[in-house]
Amino acid sequence: MTDQTSTPIRILGIESSCDETAAAVVEDGRRILSNVVASQVDLHAQFGGIFPEVASRQHIRAVYPIVEQALQQAHLALGDVDAIAITRGPGLPGSLVIGMNMAKGLALGSGLPLVGVNHLEGHLYSAWLHPSEAEGGPGPEFPLVALIVSGGHTELVLMTEHLRYQRLGATLDDAAGEAFDKVARLLNLSYPGGPAIQKAAQEGNPLAFNFPRAWLDNSWDFSFSGLKTAVLREVRAMEGVANPLPVADLAASFQAAVIDVLISKTMRAAAEYGARAILIAGGVSANAALRQSAQMRANIPLYIPPLWLCTDNAAMAAAAGHQRFLAGQRDGLDMDVLPNWPLTEVPR
Ligand code: KG4
Ligand code: ZN
Repeated sequence: MTDQTSTPIRILGIESSCDETAAAVVEDGRRILSNVVASQVDLHAQFGGIFPEVASRQHIRAVYPIVEQALQQAHLALGDVDAIAITRGPGLPGSLVIGMNMAKGLALGSGLPLVGVNHLEGHLYSAWLHPSEAEGGPGPEFPLVALIVSGGHTELVLMTEHLRYQRLGATLDDAAGEAFDKVARLLNLSYPGGPAIQKAAQEGNPLAFNFPRAWLDNSWDFSFSGLKTAVLREVRAMEGVANPLPVADLAASFQAAVIDVLISKTMRAAAEYGARAILIAGGVSANAALRQSAQMRANIPLYIPPLWLCTDNAAMAAAAGHQRFLAGQRDGLDMDVLPNWPLTEVPR
């Protein structure tokens, strides 16, 4: 993708779809020149979940300094970048709007083109990113099968070329990360639930409880509500009987059930669609047991971003924006946020 003879294309990415305010500069769609993320996790931990109104207000405070830092760390002025990529959705409306207005203000002041990107495709494009020129391999080959697992989404996607997405399946109820967060709450573990369950599970036996796996007649869809209910039933049944609760075993068995279905379906889809690469992205792809299971079972190149690129960031928005910029996409100042924007085949 990098053409050594031409001047590099630099994209400033801005991301504020959920509880991270982020800005980054990415060169040629892959090389991270800066990546600044202000997480609100500590702020929301006291509520045990994300409070949209609180998130918006925090984005307002953070967005300007974060963009300034991203440019400073890249040793660039705004005039040195070629376009501004902004996450248009999906996400929390009140949060998306803050990043969008920042991006529009910068575009208006500088005359730079605006490129709206989908948050989910951002997660996919995190697989192309690398922190320095030295570490960049050729990047994933098409066709590829991608699993996006985050707090809001669980989708299995076939990508035949850049910006072409075919949704094979998705969750019918809770997202994988949401299931981690809800089960963590049941087990009195801290927020966010994913890392807390992973930690508790380290001391537990994944075979202690035989929790259900929703194979859904071998479709590509997912369902985690039955699993969540099964954990709840076990917890209720043991309350007052088992003291203390076998939290580590419950966490390990729950985690194993989630990973079993996610990774089995991803591997099966990769084989069925003749994929040349497998990509796993989104917050839940930070899970150590999931990464280990995928590494053990993949028989084609597997791309899982490093931990710091699994959770929300703006480098991924810039990487996706790079592809859209190359494809000729330019958005106007009338662009609006799309809180429920599905990852569709059409790049708009
Ligand atoms: O992608 P992300 O940062 O935000 C969304 O777009 O949703 O994902 C956040 C989700 C949360 O549900 C969190 O519990 C989960 O990712 N998560 C994990 C781990 N780290 C974060 N889930 C399982 N294991 C982890 N280590
Ligand atoms: Zn995300």
